[in-house]
Order: sequence, then structure tokens, then C-alpha cells
Amino acid sequence: MAKIVGTIYTTHVPAIGNAIRNKKQDDPYWKPFFDGFNFVHDWVAQVQPTVAVVFYNDHGLGFWLDALPTFAIGCAEEYKTKDEGWGIPTFTDFDGDTDLSWHIADALKRADFDVVTCQEMYFDHALAIPMELTWPGVQRPIKIVPIEINTVLFPIPSAARCLALGRAVGKAIESYGKDERVLVFGTGGLSHQLEGERAGFINKKFDLDFVDSLPTNPEWATQFTGEEIAESTGTQGVELINWLAARGTIQGDAKTLHMNYHIPISDTAACTMVQVAA
Ligand SMILES: [Fe+2]
Repeated sequence: MAKIVGTIYTTHVPAIGNAIRNKKQDDPYWKPFFDGFNFVHDWVAQVQPTVAVVFYNDHGLGFWLDALPTFAIGCAEEYKTKDEGWGIPTFTDFDGDTDLSWHIADALKRADFDVVTCQEMYFDHALAIPMELTWPGVQRPIKIVPIEINTVLFPIPSAARCLALGRAVGKAIESYGKDERVLVFGTGGLSHQLEGERAGFINKKFDLDFVDSLPTNPEWATQFTGEEIAESTGTQGVELINWLAARGTIQGDAKTLHMNYHIPISDTAACTMVQVAA
């Protein structure tokens, strides 16, 4: 049977990809962020995942505003990245786990989640960068199941719905018959706003309250509407609902093995966290 070995949560801004490309990991500006992944590298080597289930949001590369699914799951054999402004990324293509994707898609439909199934999908930085941060410069030892959540076009799904989605995905993984070791990612956030009068807005207190709530009280964030989360964290800070979905895959309490919070990178409160079942 498949087993969830743990969850990783991380910021995903495009500038990280540019820093990787230009080998800025030891630059004083970037080092506090990249050093947060030293623990991740050691821990991932120990737990040896075979599949990554990744909750992320597309920023207009794979889906545009004319048709943006609230929830979508990739069911492809391979995925590619495309140009986001600094040229075609040099990241290698991503292998998909089609069997697990269809298993999860089937379970979600039966649980009344109307998820869009995609047999072709392009990954932007929200998925590609967390993979490169976790397995820097090496052939990734995992296949991928991507699950997109709309955090871009309001109305966005509620925090409660995303937590419920994650719980349904977690149950689906646990009912999968193959002996896969599944690592779940939630990418995005934490607080940031990139446009308008509040550009550069960061709310450390809200971020840390959210992070503190995740292990034993993930329902904490469900008290807020999408608009209230945007008010508290910035219009891109709402990406924390991806983290909530990832947290939902761990049934019951979780415990934090590692947390690194650093302000700012690219006008974003950057956070990296690892959690496992308590
Ligand atoms: Fe983003």
C-alpha cells in the first residue's frame, strides 16, 4: 500500500529560479533562504520518496483567466516547463505517475470534488522551483502528481474546501495499492503582494500564527474568507491555501520537523517547513 512519508511546504517565487540559475545560493541576500533546505535534503535522503503529490497554483502559464479551474489534477506521463520571463527554464522534464493520478482523480470524483483532469499540463515556477530546491541539480528520483488550486482569479476556493480536498487526497493515497512512498508538497506564500498600493506588504504575525496552527489546528485558517486572507497576507499570500491542502493529507495531528522563516526574498515572506504525522 502507498504511504505518505511527510509533507514539505515552501515559497515558490520566480526569482528563486533565477538565483539557482546564477548560482546565488551563498549570496548574503539568498543564503538565509537556501540554507533552509539543508535539512530538507538530508531528510528526503532518509525517507526516500518515490512520488511527489504537489498542491500548487498556476500563474497564467498552464491556465489563463479565460478558463481557470478551481481544482485540476494532472494525469499525464510527462510535464514540461515554459518561459516565464527569464528564458526557457533549464529544469529537466518531469515524469508523471499516471496510475496514481487517475486513482486520486477517481477518488475525488467519488467524494464529490469536481476536479478537472488534465492529460497535458505545463508547470510554472510554482511546481518547478520546489522540485529544484528539494533535488538541486540531480535527476529527481520521483514521479509527480500535480494538483492545481486557483489562487489567482477570485472567487477562490475557501480554506475549508482546500483542507477538505487535502483530506480526500490523503485518503485516496492511503487506499492506493502500490507500495509508493508519497511526499506531499504545498507551495506558495507566505504573505506577499506584488502589485498596487500595498506592493511589498508582509504580515509576519499572521504568517507565524498560520504556521503554528498547522500541526494540531489546521482548521484555524478556515475561519477566514478568501478576501480576508488576502487582506491579512496580500493578494498573493492567499497561496497559503495550497499549504492547507497539503496539510490535510496527514490525517490527525502533525508535528513540525523543520521550519525556516525569512523576510524578505523578492518582496515575499519566505518559509520552508517539513511536517510528518504526529
Ligand atoms: Fe505564486
